[in-house]
Amino acid sequence: MLWEKSIIYRVFVKKYKRYFIFGTISLIVVDIVNIFPPLIIKKTIDILPKETHLTRIVTFAGLFILVSFCQGVCRYLWRMNFIGTSFRCDYDLRMAFFKHIETLSQRFYQKYRTGDLMSRATNDIGAVRMAVGPGLLIGLDAIFYFFVIPPIIIYLSPKLSFYTFLLMPLTPIIAYKIKNIIDRRFRDVQEHFSRLSEKVQENISSIRVVKSFNMSQQEERRFLWLSRDFVKKNLKLAIPQSLLGPTFEYITYMGIIILLFIGGKMVIGGVITLGTLVAFQRYISMMVWPMTAIGWCLSLLQRGKASMKRIDEIMEETPVIVTNDKGKEQFIFTGNIEFRDVNFRYDPEKEWVLKGINLKISSGQRIAIVGPIGSGKSTLVNMLPRIIPTNKQSIFLDGVDINTINIKVLRERVGFVPQDTFLFSEKIADNILFGAKTEGSDNTSLRFARIVGIEEEIQELPHKFESYLGERGINLSGGQKQRISIARALAINPSIIILDDCLSAVDARVEDAIMKNILINFPGKTLIVVTHRLPAIRGFDIIVVMKDGMIVEKGTHKQLIVANGLYTSLYTKEVLEERFR
Ligand SMILES: Nc1ncnc2c1ncn2[C@@H]1O[C@H](COP(=O)(O)OP(=O)(O)OP(=O)(O)O)[C@@H](O)[C@H]1O
Ligand SMILES: [Mg+2]
Repeated sequence: MLWEKSIIYRVFVKKYKRYFIFGTISLIVVDIVNIFPPLIIKKTIDILPKETHLTRIVTFAGLFILVSFCQGVCRYLWRMNFIGTSFRCDYDLRMAFFKHIETLSQRFYQKYRTGDLMSRATNDIGAVRMAVGPGLLIGLDAIFYFFVIPPIIIYLSPKLSFYTFLLMPLTPIIAYKIKNIIDRRFRDVQEHFSRLSEKVQENISSIRVVKSFNMSQQEERRFLWLSRDFVKKNLKLAIPQSLLGPTFEYITYMGIIILLFIGGKMVIGGVITLGTLVAFQRYISMMVWPMTAIGWCLSLLQRGKASMKRIDEIMEETPVIVTNDKGKEQFIFTGNIEFRDVNFRYDPEKEWVLKGINLKISSGQRIAIVGPIGSGKSTLVNMLPRIIPTNKQSIFLDGVDINTINIKVLRERVGFVPQDTFLFSEKIADNILFGAKTEGSDNTSLRFARIVGIEEEIQELPHKFESYLGERGINLSGGQKQRISIARALAINPSIIILDDCLSAVDARVEDAIMKNILINFPGKTLIVVTHRLPAIRGFDIIVVMKDGMIVEKGTHKQLIVANGLYTSLYTKEVLEERFR
């Protein structure tokens, strides 16, 4: 149902009903109290000519003070309930959004650009907050005035009310027309903001590429165009927005002119008292606010609705990989892996990337996967921690289909170092202990740094393991980053260690030393290494050679050299290259 989808229902009715009720009650109290001052003024003015003592006037003044005190207290309560809830809702949405996108898979991140997601997580959530907070608040306030003031002034003088309200029917028509224009332009602005964020984000993360290709100026120009367009679109939006208030005010002031003209004549003719005319004027002025507020409220609600739709679009994305929290938790894994006729393609309309992969790996074995670029090596190893989805009954750990294992348990068992290293802008120690279960002491990060041969380099930094990386701190070399990301994977104490071409930025001597250290420190663990540097994996138990998504050769180094196939040619080429390096 439409109502059930609306943000007001989802936030106030479903979750924060209590705040809504309290907020509305205090709002109504404020508004009721607000209705009295013009009547008090009317009474005061009407008794003035006849009054000889100040007593009654003092009483009215006292009433005024009481009224404003009540207003102050209730205004505070109403703001705390409505605005407070809007921030609670902002928090809920932000957390739900973040939690949800954390579960989504690679395909999702290919579909949505980072800047776009950022703008949904910030701008759109903000727009929803404005709708459920100020939007709803001013809407209810305006509705109250709309329903309460007209009967009062009709009661004071039906004739005068008729004339002053002559112009009123114009208001909703104008409000509706302008609101439509605002909505259209607002959507345009939001979309453009996404593009702008995307550009900023892309340029920051690829600043080295931009600079090295001498593209700074060109990128600046592109950004300038985008920013100018953004300003233009905002100005276009500002026109109807700024017209809205003055139009309503104009209509209301026209009402006041009519009031002074006709009302003045009625006072002179003795049809109404002067007090009634003054009260009338006060009430008409009080109507200016709801007139403006209704338009404002409609536009805030409309924006909130559009933004909620954009957030829902993301929330409705389902993870390709189901986390399977209920799956086997008590899974004690010894390190046997079997790939059984594994086929995979990233896109149903594209070519198969893996074709009929069959491979058995026993616990504690050292496996190398080699092959030309794009042959499917990374795709294959990404399947083990289920970064990439796998069909049922195709990959087994100790004979158990990986789809049936609790994903958390599975990922704790697999220490995976992806081909693209990524470190957080945090301390080095925190990066190393990122996934480690125990609250590691410095010794723990030191131990893993030592295994990957980076300890000395870290100790030379001004703050050693406490040094911050990235934007807030130091920059590391490619090889240093790679080694820290290996240390991070080792720190979870996995049963299988997968290194996906993650030693490409260190020299052969360091690579050999790291491999040796891993083997010494993690005896009996299954080790899978994807590499282009074949001499490093000469001593491995099985070398798997892949080409075009298939396993074309398999065996030990000696066996493969004897076979004199693809491996031999890759190996010879690599050895020759290393000799001349
Ligand atoms: N996220 C993706 N979406 C679509 N296609 C992809 C994606 N990742 C890889 N591919 C394609 O799948 C094929 C295999 O890629 P993969 O990364 O597994 O190769 P690789 O053997 O690891 O190569 P390299 O040695 O360069 O690391 C390639 O043709 C690549 O273009
Ligand atoms: Mg790869």
